[in-house]
Amino acid sequence: MSAKSPIILALDTQDLDTAKNWISATNSSISIYKIGLEFFLKFGTKGLNDLKSSGEFQVFLDLKLHDIPNTVAGAVASVKDSGPKFLTVHASGGTEMIRAASSAAPQVSITAVTILTSLSDEDVSGIGYAKGAKESAIGLALLAKNSGARSIVCSPFEAREIRNAVGPEIEIITPGVRPAGEDQGDQKRTMNPVEAIAEGANYLVIGRPITDLAKISLTQMSDGAARILDSLK
Ligand code: C5P
Repeated sequence: MSAKSPIILALDTQDLDTAKNWISATNSSISIYKIGLEFFLKFGTKGLNDLKSSGEFQVFLDLKLHDIPNTVAGAVASVKDSGPKFLTVHASGGTEMIRAASSAAPQVSITAVTILTSLSDEDVSGIGYAKGAKESAIGLALLAKNSGARSIVCSPFEAREIRNAVGPEIEIITPGVRPAGEDQGDQKRTMNPVEAIAEGANYLVIGRPITDLAKISLTQMSDGAARILDSLK
């Protein structure tokens, strides 16, 4: 396993064997896998533990928790024994909620999702935020840091300003990354991996640019992950 790989592969699948195959095919280039709602709501912590037979890796548990502090603390306590490195909460849940999450699992990096990168300025205003997406994301990142979050999820287009605001200790994780020259899919604003790291990201969440290669073959998938890692060296 490459302990220093900044790539987090999103295991967006409802099939346990598919997830295992993806891990086996990419584990030489990737050391952190993102388990999101699609997988976790179907297989839970049992499924997560099952995956561990496929390789040596850490887990980014992307549950985007958002509830009253007591409930979030309970949810964090329920999953902490599966040992995620990162566990996401919505920063907009507020200071007390983020503190409750951090206290419930001090060994886990509570990861605050700022503004979903699928939201435009217009969407953000429609929800009721006074500021646009980027300014709101910076404010939420600061609030999260001051409430005990140790990592932040944001768009690569916000990473530089968030890095300046939160300092060097917080880990920044950016989705919305596409290798140069690739199909953008349903992503509207993307950066390539080298650019996203230059903007201040510590980790890049990448899904379909790697997982779609499995439709050709697992060897292609393995090569694709290695190519992206090489581009970052
Ligand atoms: O688009 P891609 O397949 O690379 O997405 C990988 C992961 O990144 C998905 O699991 C999705 O939850 C997350 N994502 C995101 N914001 C986006 C696009 C994707 O958080 N704008």
